[in-house]
Amino acid sequence: MIPAWVLDYPTGEETGEYLAIDLGGTNLRVVNVTLKGNNQFETKQSKYSLPEGIRTAEADELFKFMAECLKTFVDENFPSNLSEPIPLGFTFSYPASQDIIDEGILQRWTKGYDIHGVEGYDVVPMLTKALKELNVPIEVVALINDTTGTLVASTYTDKETRMGLIFGTGVNGAYYERCGDIPKLEGKLVDDISDNTPMAINCEYGSFDNEHAVLPRTKYDIRIDDESPRPGQQSFEKMISGYYMGEVLRMLILDLAEKKLIFGDNGYKQLQEPYVMDSSFPSLFDLDTSDELDNSKKKLQLLGVESTYEDRQALKELASFVGERAARLAVCGIAAICKKRNYKTAHCAADGSVYEKYPGFKERAARALRDIFQWSEKDDPIVIVHAEDGSGVGAAVIAALTQKRVNQGKSVGTKSKMESKVNK
Ligand code: GLC
Repeated sequence: MIPAWVLDYPTGEETGEYLAIDLGGTNLRVVNVTLKGNNQFETKQSKYSLPEGIRTAEADELFKFMAECLKTFVDENFPSNLSEPIPLGFTFSYPASQDIIDEGILQRWTKGYDIHGVEGYDVVPMLTKALKELNVPIEVVALINDTTGTLVASTYTDKETRMGLIFGTGVNGAYYERCGDIPKLEGKLVDDISDNTPMAINCEYGSFDNEHAVLPRTKYDIRIDDESPRPGQQSFEKMISGYYMGEVLRMLILDLAEKKLIFGDNGYKQLQEPYVMDSSFPSLFDLDTSDELDNSKKKLQLLGVESTYEDRQALKELASFVGERAARLAVCGIAAICKKRNYKTAHCAADGSVYEKYPGFKERAARALRDIFQWSEKDDPIVIVHAEDGSGVGAAVIAALTQKRVNQGKSVGTKSKMESKVNK
């Protein structure tokens, strides 16, 4: 549960031009956001593919790549000389501790990233240094988790928003807490922040149950964890997020194939390669409606596997276990926060590849929430809705809210951080 130092609800009247950068699983996205007020905005974005092997590169390479992409974007979109640096919201979708809004000390990499020399350090100076080296006129004003961005972007356009959620490569959520109810901040707050001041919290609930005290794990979950770069971390996420769903299914299938329960004497060599099945595999098998499950057949052939109709029926059922478990567990985060905050009605704004693309996910997630709360009314009072773009619009709105606070002389961090900022 990481305090994210967004200390205001957006009104929808914020204005200005901002840049946002988002390091995702396969792309780096740069977005130019013009907030127009009246809940309106315009965006212009470019996507840059991540270079091969960047997930395990050195820190310098990663930040240099980010700075180069920003430079290309600025050169293309701001050709004339700028009088002031452009404010940037830096979406960094990993657990990063913050004592002030423009810092983020990476606790640990998640989602398969394993870049040396970043864990334990503040990533903002790393990006700032790389930008300076290339003379890019940008100032990082806020570091933002994707869930916090989603929460704020969606609140900008819909006042009923209570949570920002990502169901994608990773799984996580953010919500607004009362500062007075955040034990981590006791004694650390500056006087201009009262008990009733709102504070966005990045829950990082992908790491729920790292102690393995609550959720039953299958032998496949245990192996995935053991063989991951960070065993013992992100336990919840490893059971349900897009990065791992294909791997859970691969292990299941491989187990059955080794026991000769599927594929008969047909070869399945490629299935032995870890992570060879991304989430498009369970996604396709799960709700395949083609004749004789022909689409699943073709998908398996991509991995050199020949299958019978019976094999594919089994795979369909297995994939539905993986998909159903993911959806049902994923909404526990929503239920927990709504119960804690005593929200009787809520719009929970969701984004991410699993939410967007995994067939049946939305219906299963809604059904699971209904089961948890045992609603009897016709319309569900807590609903998962499609989010506004968190890493673009959300980052821009947070940058705007931060600049406004700073201009008003209000704090955006803990007592000690604010004092050291003033002394600088
Ligand atoms: C992982 C990250 C978290 C992020 C989530 C969704 O759980 O640790 O920071 O919000 O993925 O991208």
